[in-house]
Formats: sequence, structure tokens, C-alpha cells
Amino acid sequence: MTEELLNVEAIEAGYGDTRVLHGVDLHLSEGEAIAVLGANGAGKSTLMMTIAGIVPSRAGRVSYGGEEITATPAEERVGLGIALVPEGRQIFGSLTIEENLKIGAACLKHRIGATAARKQVDEGIERAFTRFPVLGKRPNDSGSALSGGQQQMLAISRALMSSPKLLLMDEPCMGLSPKLGNEVYDILKALRSEGQSMVIVEESSRRALDFVDRACVLKVGRKVLEAEAAELADDENLLSAYFGIDQAVEQQ
Ligand SMILES: Nc1ncnc2c1ncn2[C@@H]1O[C@H](COP(=O)(O)OP(=O)(O)OP(=O)(O)O)[C@@H](O)[C@H]1O
Ligand SMILES: [Mg+2]
Repeated sequence: MTEELLNVEAIEAGYGDTRVLHGVDLHLSEGEAIAVLGANGAGKSTLMMTIAGIVPSRAGRVSYGGEEITATPAEERVGLGIALVPEGRQIFGSLTIEENLKIGAACLKHRIGATAARKQVDEGIERAFTRFPVLGKRPNDSGSALSGGQQQMLAISRALMSSPKLLLMDEPCMGLSPKLGNEVYDILKALRSEGQSMVIVEESSRRALDFVDRACVLKVGRKVLEAEAAELADDENLLSAYFGIDQAVEQQ
């Protein structure tokens, strides 16, 4: 039987007086990948940030690897193996590529001690530069000198620095050309084939449906559909009914 990795139960979250998530459930087994789809403002990023511990949940429960983490701070969740590649990438423009990568491993020092952490950081940086030679060629360039695609490579690499068990990807192709978007998806497919568990958020793209196991659709803070990815990918009517795929974008 597959082990449970993530279990989100009846989660409620929001900002100030605004309630955004109204009782959302999400389940992921170890080694599984799921897509969270939904229109602008549906609450996808809020859900990712609630799983990452950046936005607190007001009700409901989040458990990870069988342990409740509903109140666990974000930094500790990184240490437990949950890493978020945030919407818009959020690279530190004034820091170098290497410094950006080190931030992704900041939790390691407390978890495994300074000496082991230094070794893991060096190995992580080496892995990132092997995966993305373009970053390795210029480790001291500042984040702001990178193109959008390179910044996304850096954001993914930064998240991988903590060797996460669960990778949360929020709209990985946002603002990128279709060509660069395809390159980012090639990276995600490669990670997937290495067995990486992940949640991928997309607004109107069905690209993720090619290689995730399941997908769910959020609508105004509620999960309105969950299905096998293949089933959803084959059903144009279902997809367009729920979130109106932009065929023009898909065909690029
Ligand atoms: N920091 C914030 N303060 C107040 N309201 C917010 C904040 N962030 C998001 N919201 C509101 O919460 C709702 C859900 O936003 P969220 O960013 O989670 O949606 P989304 O599905 O990720 O949308 P998008 O496709 O635009 O990324 C929206 O109505 C948004 O305006
Ligand atoms: Mg969002």
C-alpha cells in the first residue's frame, strides 16, 4: 500500500476579513503528482501557501507523513520536506545565483548540523549546476540579471536544495514564452520520472495533465471536481465547463 504523504482536510484560510478557502480537501500519496487547476482568484496560491505554512489555516487540518502540521511554522515545514516554488518565482534580485540557492537550504543547519549542512549545500549547488548549466556558468551573477526562464530554473533549484519530498509548484510557466514554458515542463517531467512527489498549480493550461496522476479543480475556494488526469484530459466538455481552457494558449 502506498504511504500517505499529504492530507489536507476541510481547510479554511483567508486574509483579514476575506475568506478564500472554504473547506478544501487534498490528498497525496508518496510518489504521486497532482494538478490543482482553477480560474484566476480561485484560491490556488492560497492553498499552496497554506500547505507550505505561509498562510495559516483557520480551520481544518493539514498532515504530512502521518503527522499533524497544521500549526507548524513554514521554516519547519521546509525542514520536514515541503518546498514551494512560489508564483512569480520570487527570486532575490540583489543576491547572486549561489546565494539564492543557499536560501533554499537554510533549514538544513538546524536539522542536520553545520558541517553536514555545508556538505549538503555544496552537493545541492553542484546538482543544480549540472541540471542547469546556464546557472553554473555564472554563479556570481545577481538574480536580477537572469531572464524569466532562468529565474524559474533558479526558483526550482532553490526549492530542491532542501531535498524535498513534496514539491509545490505554483504556475511554473507564468510570464514565460511558450518555448520556455515547454522547457520548464521538461524539467518537471524529468523530476517526475525520478519519482518526485509534486503538486502543480495551473490556471488555464492542461500541460500538467500529461504526467500527473490526478487533478482537481478549485472554484471560488471550493474543490468542485477531482478526477484521474487521463480522464480529465480526454474530456474537453468537462474541462471547459469548469475553467474554460484557452485553446489558443494550448496550441502554441
Ligand atoms: N494578500 C492578500 N490579501 C488579501 N486578499 C488576497 C491576498 N492574496 C490573495 N487574495 C485574494 O484571495 C483570493 C484568492 O487568491 P489566490 O491568489 O489564492 O488565487 P489564485 O487561484 O492563485 O489566482 P491566480 O490564478 O490569479 O494566481 C482572490 O480573491 C485574491 O484577491
Ligand atoms: Mg495564484
